[in-house]
Amino acid sequence: MASRIIPVEDFDLIIFGATGDLARRKILPGLLRRFIAGQMPPGARIVGSARTDMDADTFRADIRAAVAEYDPARADHPELDRFLSVIDYVPLDANEPGGWDRLRAALRPGVIRAAYFSVAPGLFGALARGMAEHGLADGDTRIVVEKPFGHDLASARALNAMLSGHFSEGQIYRIDHYLGKETVQNLMAVRFANILFEPLWNAHSVDHVQITVAETVGVAGRGDYYDKAGAMRDMVQNHLLQLLCMIAMEPPYHFDPDAVRDEKLKVLRALTPVDPGDIVRGQYRAGGDVPGYAADVGHSSRTESFVALKVRLANWRWQGTPFYLRTGKRLRARASEIAVVFRTPPHSIFDAAEPPQANELVIRLQPDEGIDLKVMIKEPGPGGMRLVQVPLDMSFAEALGEDGAELPDAYERLIMDVIRGNQTLFMRGDEVETAWAWTDPIVAAWEAGAERPQPYDAGSAGPEAAAELMRRDGRRWRGIAEVRTG
Ligand code: BG6
Repeated sequence: MASRIIPVEDFDLIIFGATGDLARRKILPGLLRRFIAGQMPPGARIVGSARTDMDADTFRADIRAAVAEYDPARADHPELDRFLSVIDYVPLDANEPGGWDRLRAALRPGVIRAAYFSVAPGLFGALARGMAEHGLADGDTRIVVEKPFGHDLASARALNAMLSGHFSEGQIYRIDHYLGKETVQNLMAVRFANILFEPLWNAHSVDHVQITVAETVGVAGRGDYYDKAGAMRDMVQNHLLQLLCMIAMEPPYHFDPDAVRDEKLKVLRALTPVDPGDIVRGQYRAGGDVPGYAADVGHSSRTESFVALKVRLANWRWQGTPFYLRTGKRLRARASEIAVVFRTPPHSIFDAAEPPQANELVIRLQPDEGIDLKVMIKEPGPGGMRLVQVPLDMSFAEALGEDGAELPDAYERLIMDVIRGNQTLFMRGDEVETAWAWTDPIVAAWEAGAERPQPYDAGSAGPEAAAELMRRDGRRWRGIAEVRTG
């Protein structure tokens, strides 16, 4: 099955913060892959910008080093030199007046212009203002804004108000890179391009939904940011809630940016306040050679590196179906998935010792993206009717052959969507604010209280209380290591 590469229109892309970690790790290597794939038109230009005073050749050498570090398979690619030749560099300090004229001179009039704000949120305002004051904010300009988008409702509102003073909502692309993951979009295809699931996609047939984003990494290296955020602000407010929206939303009338985002917003608005007894916070402690959270951030802290919670949606479709979310650092495996666990049949006609188990639809985000449907069948062989649950497992890499073996990274896809002017996979300002409005009271209660997160061993599945959160409802989490890695 050949995947089709549809080149985008000619563009100039400015990357502010071009020497930073995200640019070196994700954005520039991702652009190289799109260049190699033939998706970037030959004339397209990339202008890196950062405070460091250096010339374009030094910047290109740094990109070469970044590619060697983060995408070594392409370090010697024959197209790398051609890619580097479309890259320019302009030093600019967002808080200083110099540099803007040079930046403007490096850009072409009449082509799509995109500016990626890959900088600390404290600089968003200065960059937006600088662009507007220097004639770089006209209608064909798009800005891409990285998370964190505020740290609570008030700061997100202020950020939205500030950006909308210079750019229209149609020009603002708020990135949640989880929306760029292949399987997340596939979730919409599975739900809305098949008749199979939609009739069952409600509280009558779905017992509960589990969303897990488990990471093995700790917070070392970005402890300053993380310790002020915690898992709730860093992961739940954005990535996990966006996944929840994709699972729970009504069918949009069309696959169109605002139609999709209107439906997601309705889900966020339907979130009910969470009972404090339905939340478990955890913090990893040292295990083996792995340091604990306090050592990683350099001091004792009450910030959570793990959170599990039971969430409800007050609407007709989901009345009575809880959504269990969990995410954490330093867990047993890197495994992200959504499991839709259906109800068991109302009556079993079989005398089997084991009654039928619930069907499960598991959407694996990473690793090994794919979809797995667990169904009951007769256990093969003679000896009467015994039931067994088997997976109907579709790994995208296998199903799509060579083309599926290397799916584009979320950032690659999202940057191309920015150039195409397609905001479907980007968060609208009202979505972000509504997500904060729900998150704020949870975090405020923690900050006002004196309780510490529950310790869990690095390399485990999180605190025991998270398992209890499910157990007391007669349910259980899927094992974190159950996700295939093959
Ligand atoms: C980021 C968070 O948004 O997502 C990180 O700030 C987290 O803390 C990362 O590690 C996870 O992304 P991925 O794509 O590796 O699952």
